[in-house]
Amino acid sequence: MVDPENFYAVVKTDAYGHGIKQVFDRLFAQGQRLFCVDSLDEALQIRHKEAQIFIMSPLCPSDLVKACDEGFIPFVSRQKEIEVLSSLARPPEIVFHCDIGMNRFGFTPSQRDAALDKIQKNALKVHSVSTHLAQAEDFVEEGSQMALSYDDFLKWVSDHFPKEVKVQALNTKGLLSCIKKNIKPVGCRIGLGLYGWSGSKFLDSAVSLKPVMRFKAPVVAIKDVQKGQTVSYGGLWTAQRQSRLAIVAVGYGNGLAGLEFKFFELGPDLAPVVGQITMGYTILDITDINKPLNVGDSAVVFGSQKALDKDLQLYWAMTAMGRLNPRKCI
Ligand SMILES: Cc1ncc(COP(=O)(O)O)c(C=O)c1O
Repeated sequence: MVDPENFYAVVKTDAYGHGIKQVFDRLFAQGQRLFCVDSLDEALQIRHKEAQIFIMSPLCPSDLVKACDEGFIPFVSRQKEIEVLSSLARPPEIVFHCDIGMNRFGFTPSQRDAALDKIQKNALKVHSVSTHLAQAEDFVEEGSQMALSYDDFLKWVSDHFPKEVKVQALNTKGLLSCIKKNIKPVGCRIGLGLYGWSGSKFLDSAVSLKPVMRFKAPVVAIKDVQKGQTVSYGGLWTAQRQSRLAIVAVGYGNGLAGLEFKFFELGPDLAPVVGQITMGYTILDITDINKPLNVGDSAVVFGSQKALDKDLQLYWAMTAMGRLNPRKCI
């Protein structure tokens, strides 16, 4: 559905916690050539003469110049960057980045004409025109604010660039929304989907994905509590019956902070998390678990489709847990 020249693999933030070098090597071996990162440092880690590396985040002037010297392609999203790049002896290739509602980086509709004018006067070569969707499920909904801003952006691009100019605009949810609605997609920068998540239950049916990351932690103790006893800090959970608990050696020090885990997986069963997660431990209620459990067995914290209800938490989980814990690539 998307040809290789329009498919950008987002490997920023250590490839969402999966290991930037490992993910790059694996994708490169499979023929992927376009990669997006957020910093010069990340770009240098995966430098390869046959790959095009795009740096999406704004860079300070010295990094911007170095990025261009190294052959990386920066996103240009501020006037200051145009000035810095215009002073280079050889005009570099850039991505012209527009803001259509994120209100983060990029030229807004009222800024983009002047910015483009300056880019053309200084002979900077536009590789592609980019934007990023703030509400990627809404942009296919006719009449939604996101759809109106997106259509206005595409019209502006077609009014100001030659027909062949590349557009990169869709993230995982954007691409899946197109697939679901049978709309031909423009260029895609895909992160979440590469790592096996759609980011939305509504979009799960668009393609079948399997999570790449599986995060396991050992059970270090098993204990029984009586009805009425409370568990963990603040006594936030009270046993409603005599209960068997498993203490798993994983906590917010391993990247679980702020994540609302309801269950961990124990073999085929889901064991509810009870009480407050602590720095190094999480407590599971295993009273109803059928399979006998022993100290030393593993609980799967992340990797199950049921692990986290909230889409955004998938990003937090992968980036935090993947980077804070020992990783084994298989
Ligand atoms: C500018 C930009 N493009 C693309 C992506 C990829 O988004 P997703 O992981 O939802 O596919 C991101 C992720 O945060 C991003 O910041």
